[in-house]
Amino acid sequence: MLELNNIHTFYGPVEALKGITLKVNQGEIVCLIGSNGAGKSTALMTISGILKPKAGTISFIGSDISDMPPHSIVEMGISHVPEGRRIFPKLTVKENLEMGAYTKSYKLRVTSYKFKNQLDMVFEMFPILMEREKQMGGTLSGGEQQMLAISRALMSNPKLLLLDEPSLGLAPIIVSRIFKAIREINQEGVTILLVEQNAHAALNLSSRGYVLENGRIKMHGQGKDLLNSEEVKKAYLGE
Ligand SMILES: Nc1ncnc2c1ncn2[C@@H]1O[C@H](COP(=O)(O)OP(=O)(O)OP(=O)(O)O)[C@@H](O)[C@H]1O
Ligand SMILES: [Mg+2]
Repeated sequence: MLELNNIHTFYGPVEALKGITLKVNQGEIVCLIGSNGAGKSTALMTISGILKPKAGTISFIGSDISDMPPHSIVEMGISHVPEGRRIFPKLTVKENLEMGAYTKSYKLRVTSYKFKNQLDMVFEMFPILMEREKQMGGTLSGGEQQMLAISRALMSNPKLLLLDEPSLGLAPIIVSRIFKAIREINQEGVTILLVEQNAHAALNLSSRGYVLENGRIKMHGQGKDLLNSEEVKKAYLGE
């Protein structure tokens, strides 16, 4: 479904991705793990078109998206939940969700019928958001804001969801709720590329994983094989 081939991404003179190659097959949950500064967020931002790769290609369902602007990439079916949630604090929960559905040309694509459908789907997944529908986004708890950020991304009815550290700063019980939701979203047919520092939970959830270190893919394999790898255990699982 998604293929990155030898991607190089820079911030000015700083090369944050030094030739990464990875793929995500339709229906999978794939995780990208690695330490702070490894390039995980940079990889997601390069896929969603926020950053342009200097070299390499990104293809999505057979189309080259490496040169497309972010809004076209959303329209192709890729939705990105950025690190740190970034919901609109001064908009209500409902308005935040509307923002996820209506970008320029979405007005045409997400009809009111579809909007209602997506809204029902996210409210079913996170009933708390329905209760908080008229509340300002900024007044939600951290966990609720994460649920809102994920829900907002789902409003565009994506084929592939990019999740950047959804568990960051959340209490363990909320983390389990979020991970359960990720599994449910996947079962609804959405393919997932998950970036996590919480390597143990991420590898448990994923069919496959990639380990990113200093801008390069260091290892990849089945989630359970990586969980059992001595190298991964030592460096990322604190065992
Ligand atoms: N705006 C920027 N300008 C310059 N360098 C940047 C910028 N953003 C990130 N970098 C550098 O790029 C590298 C990769 O950063 P990135 O944010 O992708 O890491 P990460 O794996 O997501 O880390 P974390 O786990 O802390 O979120 C780091 O060395 C970082 O300092
Ligand atoms: Mg990051």
